[in-house]
Amino acid sequence: MPAIVLPGPAFLPPSDFLPRPTADGSLTLHSEALGEHYHSMFGAVAESEHVYIRQGFGSCVKQHLDLLEVGLGTGLNALLTLVEAQRSGRQVNYLALEPFPLPPDVIGALDHPGSIGRPDLAGTFHRLMSAAPDETLSPFPGSTFRRSLARVQDLEMKAAFDLVYFDAFAPKVQPEMWTADVFRMLYAAMRPGALLVTYCAKGDVRRAMRDAGLMPELVQGPPGKYKMLKAFRP
Ligand SMILES: C[S@@+](CC[C@H](N)C(=O)[O-])C[C@H]1O[C@@H](n2cnc3c(N)ncnc32)[C@H](O)[C@@H]1O
Repeated sequence: MPAIVLPGPAFLPPSDFLPRPTADGSLTLHSEALGEHYHSMFGAVAESEHVYIRQGFGSCVKQHLDLLEVGLGTGLNALLTLVEAQRSGRQVNYLALEPFPLPPDVIGALDHPGSIGRPDLAGTFHRLMSAAPDETLSPFPGSTFRRSLARVQDLEMKAAFDLVYFDAFAPKVQPEMWTADVFRMLYAAMRPGALLVTYCAKGDVRRAMRDAGLMPELVQGPPGKYKMLKAFRP
């Protein structure tokens, strides 16, 4: 008789996430129950700047780009990207998926604008993080920001993005995020030539990406991590 496969329990983030300082002085959230944090303990800002800004936004050549983030979390990647777009004179349409949004006061307590040396953006950042789901805001001229409560597994958009930030919790915590099925949906959502970046460099993840048709490549990782992944849609 064939084995009966029951669906696993649905993921629900625990409620014990608390602020914790990381090695570069910026704050992240840590959960004792989950044994997981939102960013690297070697530096939250250092990790975001390396993985998503330098290896992602910085290596995408388009002047005007459509960007998808999987896992808005505390909004650090979004803040850094919008600031970098403004600084470099590029325009970004930023869509962030987050089915488990954090309360704006929890995000505010991390003081990301202060950590990146832009305390003047505290009000703008608060408005972005407390915007209604699916409301499109224009924090800087030419750029837009929208957050959605959709899960990546429910993404139906096709050939819509030039760049994807894949910032899920680690595979040991949320294995269902790192499957070939999820990467197939992202492949379909990416335009030919589009790039996906993630902090993870695991062999299983690389294989899942390849099974989905993406072309993963190991590149230098952020502080405290030897490698990370960049994957192109051919
Ligand atoms: C590592 S954290 C993201 C950190 C974030 N990028 C930042 O800058 O703070 C992972 C995020 O993925 C979110 N997430 C969990 N399941 C998801 C799903 N099915 N689709 C999209 N995001 C999901 C979590 O709620 C969490 O906020």
